[in-house]
Amino acid sequence: MKRHKVMIIGGTSGIGLALAHHYLDAGADVAICGRNPERVDPQFVVRYPLLRLISVNIVDREAVRRATVSFAGDGLDLLIVTAGFYADTKTLERIPDAGMQMLRTNVLGVTYAFEAASEIMCERGHGHLVALASIAGLLREYPGRSLYSSTKCAVIALCDVYRKALAPHGITVSAIIPGYVDTARLRELNEGNAREKPFLCSEADAVMQITRAIERRLARHVFPWQLHWLIRVFNLMPAPLRQLRKK
Ligand SMILES: NC(=O)c1ccc[n+]([C@@H]2O[C@H](COP(=O)([O-])OP(=O)(O)OC[C@H]3O[C@@H](n4cnc5c(N)ncnc54)[C@H](OP(=O)(O)O)[C@@H]3O)[C@@H](O)[C@H]2O)c1
Repeated sequence: MKRHKVMIIGGTSGIGLALAHHYLDAGADVAICGRNPERVDPQFVVRYPLLRLISVNIVDREAVRRATVSFAGDGLDLLIVTAGFYADTKTLERIPDAGMQMLRTNVLGVTYAFEAASEIMCERGHGHLVALASIAGLLREYPGRSLYSSTKCAVIALCDVYRKALAPHGITVSAIIPGYVDTARLRELNEGNAREKPFLCSEADAVMQITRAIERRLARHVFPWQLHWLIRVFNLMPAPLRQLRKK
């Protein structure tokens, strides 16, 4: 039987790497893509001899196309984009280019990846595109809203647009909308400890939520539900109160 082909752009660490583990254990052909594939533990590579590691920067449209074609060959079942740039406000203020980098990675990058994969999937009349947004992208607009949440709001909108356009070609598009997930990157942004983040999920819980949503071909999946409800309440508050939100 033909093995399932799964490409994960942003799979060299965190949620993407944990998803790669899941699909490799399930017997899929997996490509892990990122700018720094050497970040993946050599032990992990030895354990899965069929794993492909591909060096690609998602903001380079041609490189994304080449990587997708080279891995897909005669087809691609699932593309998951976990590549994302998130930084605190201090970093954004300190590094002049950081805002642009965030926009290019989180918004243009998803477009380039979807464009390249959907071309291949359309030829075969099947496939599934998935992007990791964030629950921050569901926050209603208010003065002081972060650039990150705006980029993730754009990811949700992009998924909606692609879903409508690609449904007649047999392609499913899912937006995964997580709350806080206890990854090394989140800990790094929180002085080594993210335990104070509300309704923090483990990487294992996130993988379970994401892979179930993919199996069920959900258009959108928001988790954890508790944080989703908090955001709904926050969005109902008057603008002056929403502005008081701690950055
Ligand atoms: N952790 C959370 O609490 C949380 C919550 C909501 C949403 N999310 C979203 O979930 C995704 C994964 O988060 P994470 O915590 O797992 O972060 P992470 O460990 O930093 O993972 C990000 C991945 O993206 C890759 N990447 C970054 N820029 C790239 C680029 N220009 N081209 C190709 N790959 C690139 C990185 O690999 P290289 O360095 O090898 O390029 C890395 O593998 C992000 O989109 C994030 O916004 C995270």
